[in-house]
Amino acid sequence: MVGSVLMQRMQDEGDFANINPVFFSTSNAGGAAPAVAGSAGGDAGKLEDAFDVDALAKLPIIVTAQGGDYTKQVHGELRSRGWDGLWIDAASTLRMNDDSIIVLDPINRDVIDAGLSGGVKDYIGGNCTVSCMLMGLGGLFKNGLVEWGTSMTYQAASGGGARHMRELLSQFGTLNAQVSPELDDPASAILDIDRKVLAHQRTDIDATQFGVPLAGSLIPWIDADLGNGQSKEEWKAGVETNKILGTSGDQHIIMDGLCIRIGAMRSHSQALTLKLREDLSVAEIEKLLDADNEWAKVVPNSKDASMSQLTPVAASGTLDIPVGRIRKLEMGPQYISAFTVGDQLLWGAAEPLRRMLNIATGNL
Ligand code: HSE
Repeated sequence: MVGSVLMQRMQDEGDFANINPVFFSTSNAGGAAPAVAGSAGGDAGKLEDAFDVDALAKLPIIVTAQGGDYTKQVHGELRSRGWDGLWIDAASTLRMNDDSIIVLDPINRDVIDAGLSGGVKDYIGGNCTVSCMLMGLGGLFKNGLVEWGTSMTYQAASGGGARHMRELLSQFGTLNAQVSPELDDPASAILDIDRKVLAHQRTDIDATQFGVPLAGSLIPWIDADLGNGQSKEEWKAGVETNKILGTSGDQHIIMDGLCIRIGAMRSHSQALTLKLREDLSVAEIEKLLDADNEWAKVVPNSKDASMSQLTPVAASGTLDIPVGRIRKLEMGPQYISAFTVGDQLLWGAAEPLRRMLNIATGNL
C-alpha cells in the first residue's frame, strides 16, 4: 500500500524524469515494469527479482517500501558484500541504528545534509505518528520550545495494512447487517439494537487481522509489548522525535503517551499536551506553527473549524497537516493542548521517501 502511494506521488510530481528507474518485485519478477511517465532512461523494461542481490548491487540508490523483513534480509546482504549505495526505506528495522538518519526534510534537512556530506548511507522514514506530529508542530519543536510532551493517539486502520482497512469496513458492514431491519423501523428500541450489536462483536465478528473488533470499539495497544508497560509504538515517540531533531543532553525532549487504534481509515490523529520552555501567547504559537512549513495549517480553536477542518475525513488524501485545539491549559501558562491530524500514508510513509530520493539526486 505504501509502495502504491509512493508510486502515485512520484508520478504526480514528475520524479521519474530525474532518474533511470529499475523496478523490482518480491512476487512478480519477469512481469512488466510499471509504465512511468517521463523516466529519464525511457522504457523501464521488466520487473527484476527483489532478492537478486547482484542486480540490486549495481544500483546507486535503492528505495523500498517492502517492509522490515525484506530490509533485514536484503540490506544486510548488500552491505556485507560492500555495496555503498544509498538505501531509502520506511521500515523500522534500521531507524534507530547509529549510522542511519530518519528522514523528514521539512523538519531536519540540516541533519540530512550533514549526513550526506558525512557519508551516511541509510535514510529511513520515521514512524507515521511521529512524522505527522513533527510536521504539524515543527514550529515549536524546531525552535527548542518544547520541554516535554504527551501524545495520545487515535491511529487509523491503514497503520496495520491494506487487509486491516478491509477488515474494518467488513466489520462496519456486518454490524449494520445484524440490525438493519430494526434500523429501518423507527419504533424499534435502541437498547435492543445495542444488545444485538454487542453480541455480534463479542461472538462471531471476523477480527482476523486486528485480533479483536475495531468497528464500534477501539484497541488501546499498537505494536509489540515491551514488557515495561509501554508499547513499541509509544517508545518510538520519544526516541524518534529526538533522533529526527538531533536533540540530546540539555536539549533532549521527553515525549511519551498512549497509542490507540480507532476506526478511521488512513489518517492518524493525536491529542497533545505540551510543556513549553517559555510562556508564549496562543497567537505567537499559532504564528510559529503556520510559518514553519507549507503543510502545517493552523485551525482556529472553534467548534465549527475543528469539526470541519481537523478530522481524518478532512485530512485524508492531502499533504496538509491541520493543527488545532491550541489553548492554554489550567496547569499553567507554559502548558498547552494541541490536536493534529495527518494522512499516515503520505507524510507518515511515502512522502519523506520520495523527497529523500530527490534530495539525494540533487533535485530538492
Ligand atoms: N505503526 C503504525 C501504525 C504504522 O500501526 O499505525 C505507521 O508507521
